[in-house]
Amino acid sequence: MVLKDNCGRPLLNLRISITQRCNLKCTYCHREGEVKRANVSAEKMTLPEIVRIAETAVSLGIYRIKLTGGEPLMRQDVCELVKAIAAIPGLSDLSMTTNGMLLDELAVPLRKAGLKRVNISLPTLNLETYSKLTGGKLENALVGVKAAIEAGFPLIKLNMVVLRGVNVDDVPEMINFARDMGVILQLIELDPINVSNDYYSKHHRFLTEQEAMLRDKAVKIETRRLMHNRLIYHLPDVTVEVVHPTENCDFCMHCTRMRVTSDGKLKPCLMRNDNLTDILTPMRNGATDEELKKLFLQANQLREPYNKPLQTQN
Ligand code: 5AD
Repeated sequence: MVLKDNCGRPLLNLRISITQRCNLKCTYCHREGEVKRANVSAEKMTLPEIVRIAETAVSLGIYRIKLTGGEPLMRQDVCELVKAIAAIPGLSDLSMTTNGMLLDELAVPLRKAGLKRVNISLPTLNLETYSKLTGGKLENALVGVKAAIEAGFPLIKLNMVVLRGVNVDDVPEMINFARDMGVILQLIELDPINVSNDYYSKHHRFLTEQEAMLRDKAVKIETRRLMHNRLIYHLPDVTVEVVHPTENCDFCMHCTRMRVTSDGKLKPCLMRNDNLTDILTPMRNGATDEELKKLFLQANQLREPYNKPLQTQN
């Protein structure tokens, strides 16, 4: 079974924020669209609660789960959590987005626990730019990338949010780095969420020129129909994916996602906080499996494309 929303979009992916804590302070961070809580230090959802939400999702046809944060590796129980989710029958893809700071220690245990893929945030290879953007040390991120490669993850992506006036010129170097490391580069356009209008207007940039260059060099271009119609440019020796959400109806029309906030709310769209469905409270109040499924169905009905093609009048 697969759930579809009112626009016919299937629900196939769940992106779960497992903590709001983070060991970096990226200036561009959208915090997965969540409002920042005053006290982020106490985790809101326990391991069994997250697993139960994941099980409910998989029972409804969701087959891909991504763990995110904050920084997911800040959770002490992250490996146990991965192990428990990876064991859910019917789940075919379990991945994580991380800043890589703690991967040196955790890459092997995570792989052993059943994590299939990692996306590592790496906005630049320039030491100073990295530290200005993230508050962290580039070296730690690079050690993390190498640890992930050595741990044998079959698919690793580097997430590069491209910012005008900051790291646009680093794109070619990042492409070369991805090629040398044998990983995929993901160029991401800045999303206008949880950053100030000022920051957004200063740093947002469409990736038109980069895409023109990629199109030129590509031997094959693929469209991820079940993932926002994102384009994957296969260059002769490296693969680059482009994430272009802004003012892009095609992106939204091909969204197959639901999110779970770090405090246990089903969130149909990164861009909105006015249509959340609390699943944690009912669970704590003893909701049955059927009741949890109903909450998912309800949240699925609230999914709608943020950017829609203009309706033609009858
Ligand atoms: N716009 C686009 N992508 C973002 N990310 C974080 N903040 C933003 C933003 N404002 C991406 C980072 C990170 C992932 C969790 O989300 O690349 O890897």
